Amino acid sequence: MSVVALHDPSAPLDRLGRPIHDLRISVMDRCNFRCPYCMPKETFGEGYRFLGSAERLSFAEITRLARLFTGLGVRKLRLTGGEPLLRAGLEELVGDLAALPGVEDVALTTNGVLLARHAQELKTQGLTRITVSLDSLDPDVFRRMSGGFGSPDEVLTGIEAALAAGLAPVKVNCVVQRGVNDHTVLDLLDRFRGTPVIVRLIEYMDVGNRNHWEPALVVPSRELRERIAARWEIAPRAGNYRGEVAERYAYADGAGEIGFISSVSQPFCGACSRARLSSEGVLYTCLFATRGLDLRAPLRAGADDATLLQLVRDAWERRADRYSELRAESKQDGRRKIEMYYIGG
Ligand code: GTP
Ligand code: 5AD
Ligand code: SF4
Ligand code: SF4
Repeated sequence: MSVVALHDPSAPLDRLGRPIHDLRISVMDRCNFRCPYCMPKETFGEGYRFLGSAERLSFAEITRLARLFTGLGVRKLRLTGGEPLLRAGLEELVGDLAALPGVEDVALTTNGVLLARHAQELKTQGLTRITVSLDSLDPDVFRRMSGGFGSPDEVLTGIEAALAAGLAPVKVNCVVQRGVNDHTVLDLLDRFRGTPVIVRLIEYMDVGNRNHWEPALVVPSRELRERIAARWEIAPRAGNYRGEVAERYAYADGAGEIGFISSVSQPFCGACSRARLSSEGVLYTCLFATRGLDLRAPLRAGADDATLLQLVRDAWERRADRYSELRAESKQDGRRKIEMYYIGG
């Protein structure tokens, strides 16, 4: 189904003709993990200053902004972090967002450690989908990739709770790094074959400025597919929607689906309809943005809906972001980017 074909003529298009369809909302800049590829300990140590609670948007502010975004075409909301389940009372926000007219999908991305105690209430409040990060089932590899926090068992318990709460299909996100966890990918896939869990293998990206990214650490999806195909027969499936980040593959024996997110080897900026709102209310039109639009200042200064709506519309209409494509063409500069824990993946 094409988003463009359904495009409301009054909804904005950016400079590359892309509508706005998804809003990813970071509700919490803190995290209970320190994945070296996202929040390396040497930067995010004891002394690191996270936002104070008054600096984060309140649930009422988030809900008001989300409602305005639906007026521009947003139909899908995804709550992210940091770790979104560290935000107290998150279920209440899910309920408020799910009740907004025009919202078709409220999803959550979590590291899963706190999920077992929240899954049922999230579902009850209207959460439609959940994605859980899980880089490896090998406890040592897991701890290396989480900065020493959590365990595969805790995450698996969270996934079970989500399935029991009726949140199927659950998606599992695995960031693949060469020489770190790529040798454990087949075990991860094997664990979820025959279950309603879709594993998505993500190429390691150069988000932020601090994760020591280098191209040699990326395992291209094509290479992973070859390794997988040597063990199980897989075949491509049609996408769910235009602008979907994952390429879908299915096991030929009916044991389920695998997703490949190839933003390094095969950028998907052409149909990117995602906007991102940071926990302090700054709007970014690209995961790799260097600057954003502060919505919290006008919001707290008493701006009316029409004024806020116009600010967002103008920002979207100015948008020409296509960072991953430029990276692939070797055209990006060494500019400072926004950190992923802050902007929410
Ligand atoms: P579905 O709605 O289930 O298709 O998931 P999603 O793609 O909205 O969500 P998710 O948060 O699980 O995204 C998976 C991963 O893809 C992210 O963690 C990022 O690593 C990557 N990703 C998502 N959106 C973008 C994007 O706009 N640009 C780039 N370069 N990568 C992205
Ligand atoms: N490259 C690719 N994916 C990343 N994530 C975090 N940092 C990176 C990175 N550098 C993933 C997390 C989580 C999602 C929100 O983003 O593993 O699944
Ligand atoms: Fe936390 Fe997710 Fe970043 Fe890991 S990738 S530090 S779990 S926000
Ligand atoms: Fe969208 Fe920016 Fe990612 Fe390209 S790099 S897909 S424009 S968020």
